[in-house]
Amino acid sequence: MGSLKVVDHPLVKHKITLLRSKFTDVQRFRELMQELSMLLAYEATRSIPVEETTCETPLTETKGYLIHPGQIAIIPILRAGLGMVDGLLNFMPMARVGHVGLYRDHESLQPIEYYSKFPEGIDQMEVFVVDPMLATGGSVAHAIDIVKRAGARKIRFLCVVSCPEGVECLQKAHPDVDIFTCVLDEKLNDKGYILPGLGDAGDRLYGTK
Ligand code: PRP
Ligand code: URA
Repeated sequence: MGSLKVVDHPLVKHKITLLRSKFTDVQRFRELMQELSMLLAYEATRSIPVEETTCETPLTETKGYLIHPGQIAIIPILRAGLGMVDGLLNFMPMARVGHVGLYRDHESLQPIEYYSKFPEGIDQMEVFVVDPMLATGGSVAHAIDIVKRAGARKIRFLCVVSCPEGVECLQKAHPDVDIFTCVLDEKLNDKGYILPGLGDAGDRLYGTK
């Protein structure tokens, strides 16, 4: 079973509270989403491999460690996942970026796929699938099916807000995938929205409602 890591940190608590607030405007919402993504990335990259190297300081030579430039792939689930990418790239500018396009049908809540494109060599990479919201779990479970079909094997999922229903769905569908989240909320409402949640992440990121 994949693990669930809730990043329990005062900075995360503070920023999540601002992110949830209905009084937070589009610009600040985007900034907070990026900042939270960086904090998630810090936790989710703890176990990625580093290569030993030598490094010359102004005084002497010493042992150093580097992340291989072609080793990391970030895969946002469109659209809202795009709001997390720059936060991760701030920490890992060498990462490759792929995309999965999905939206949830409003009636059935089933994911509808419309796009995918992945970096070459994804089968050898540490893959970070990102989407701010883990609600029913249908979107990410489907996205990870697609990413696995493309060859990916080492996959982590990063989300900002999650709920027990989504975690259970993802752990059942992909028991090999570890989940990193800023907060585990209470439940889904009857329209499939997370409570207390933050509303529709895509609409709040892009000002579409
Ligand atoms: C949102 C969110 C997730 C999905 C989560 O996207 O960004 O992808 O819903 O819901 P689920 O866990 O129940 O599948 P949405 O479908 O609204 O598409 P959008 O990003 O294009 O707005
Ligand atoms: N998608 C969102 O953007 N928000 C939710 O609460 C659930 C799904």
